[in-house]
Amino acid sequence: MSAQTRLAVLVSGSGTNLQALLDAIAADPDFGGEVVVVASDRASAQGLERARDAGVPAVAIELGDHLDRAAWEQALVAALLEHRPDAVVLAGFMRLVTGAFLSHWPDRVVNTHPSLLPAFRGAHAVRDALEYGVKVTGSTVHLVDEKVDHGPVIAQRAVEIREDDDEDSLHERIKAVEHELFPHCVRLLCQGRLTVDGRHVRVS
Ligand code: GRF
Repeated sequence: MSAQTRLAVLVSGSGTNLQALLDAIAADPDFGGEVVVVASDRASAQGLERARDAGVPAVAIELGDHLDRAAWEQALVAALLEHRPDAVVLAGFMRLVTGAFLSHWPDRVVNTHPSLLPAFRGAHAVRDALEYGVKVTGSTVHLVDEKVDHGPVIAQRAVEIREDDDEDSLHERIKAVEHELFPHCVRLLCQGRLTVDGRHVRVS
């Protein structure tokens, strides 16, 4: 990795985690990384606008413009490789990536997920936690492997569920936690402080 870790960020939606990362990098000269490209599977994703506002190249690679999923993923990889990223961070990216994608950045793809994994994997983690009736959920930042929301955990933080929570109110409090935990974990990655040993991620 170069002195500054080159980060690609993938977003599908509002991009508040991307914004938290951009802000953390701007505020910390020792962060050790820079966002060199933001890509989305949706041209309308607000995260792309946030990237442009920050002067970061923003690209949309939509599934519908490609023959099949494999072709879409290849196009996504090609678009990212143009910017020579050392690592890829998924910040609310709502599509799965395969081993072909991961092979370009081994142990260098990070995801933020709004539950305490391994509980409540998948796209509706906040709703599922509420429906299950758990009293505590939270935020997990983890390395991505070929299974959904499964790779080695970098860090987790708990969020208590309140009696009157609905999906929006709970997700908002989880996001407030994510906005600290996610940049913190990406900073550790950029600084070369993560070592992966099987399912265990050690922080030095
Ligand atoms: C986050 O809660 C993330 O964990 C989940 O989707 C949400 C994305 O939010 N996968 P944003 O686009 O960063 O605002």
